[in-house]
Amino acid sequence: MAGASSFSGLVDKTFWMILGSSVIMLLGITVTMIYFIVKYRHSKNPEPKDIEGSTTLETLWTVLPTVLVMVMFYYGWAGFKVMRDTPAGATPITVQARMWSWSFKYENGKQSTEMYVPVGRPVAVKLESADVIHSFFVPAFRLKEDCVPGRNNHAWFQAEREGVYDLLCAEYCGDQHSTMLAKVVAVPADTFDVWLERGGGRPTGAKLMQIKGCVACHSIDGTKLIGPSYKGMYGRTERVITNGVEREITVDDEYIRRSLLEPNADVVVGYQPQMPAMGNQLDEEDIQLIIDYIKRQ
Ligand code: CUA
Repeated sequence: MAGASSFSGLVDKTFWMILGSSVIMLLGITVTMIYFIVKYRHSKNPEPKDIEGSTTLETLWTVLPTVLVMVMFYYGWAGFKVMRDTPAGATPITVQARMWSWSFKYENGKQSTEMYVPVGRPVAVKLESADVIHSFFVPAFRLKEDCVPGRNNHAWFQAEREGVYDLLCAEYCGDQHSTMLAKVVAVPADTFDVWLERGGGRPTGAKLMQIKGCVACHSIDGTKLIGPSYKGMYGRTERVITNGVEREITVDDEYIRRSLLEPNADVVVGYQPQMPAMGNQLDEEDIQLIIDYIKRQ
């Protein structure tokens, strides 16, 4: 069966080529070794002999492995080059990673927690992280590329078959690394276009906070999770630690904004400074949506 992405065949070919030549070498070396052990055993050869060098042999065992590794290099390089050169006109999708969730942003501003992609069209992936290094890994597509904070990394792929594919984080990024999962949903191109337009544009505050993974750590019903609950938070007086000193603040627009941009500046007493700075994943309008949302809780 053909691969799920346009270059999965290329990666597989390289993999099987390297695995195949490794197995041949392993068998060849092992068989020769056993043969020599038997042939030159002590009982048959009680006197050790000097062996003169052989130019032919030495040339052979230098040239053959060199050719072999150059062939491996060629396949690896040729495949890598294809994977790094995004074709012109590819559909842009921004992948945003954070501890410990994924979200996806499309050209028209639409956002989602599952990555929707059109079958048969190249997708240009922009990779971003809000906090630490995560790795965008779609095994079925043979695609793995890091999301590095403070750096714009990229990748691309073209899904060849409809389907729902696993998306994993392949870089250890803290406690919940193993739960940092999502799906890539490959749909026919026209379905994708319809999906993209439907409910396009900016999500609501509630939806935005779900997409950005806020709700994993902050409840809205007063339950204490990793971070404080949003319930009744707005306008409340809160004791926070600022630069190691405890002080009182009022939760207002400015405090929420600062908490999004510099989450560890004022940490509410009783909580750990764990939240990633969301500055590069939210614009001014997003921040206002979140403030309005928290006001209503
Ligand atoms: Cu993110 Cu591991």
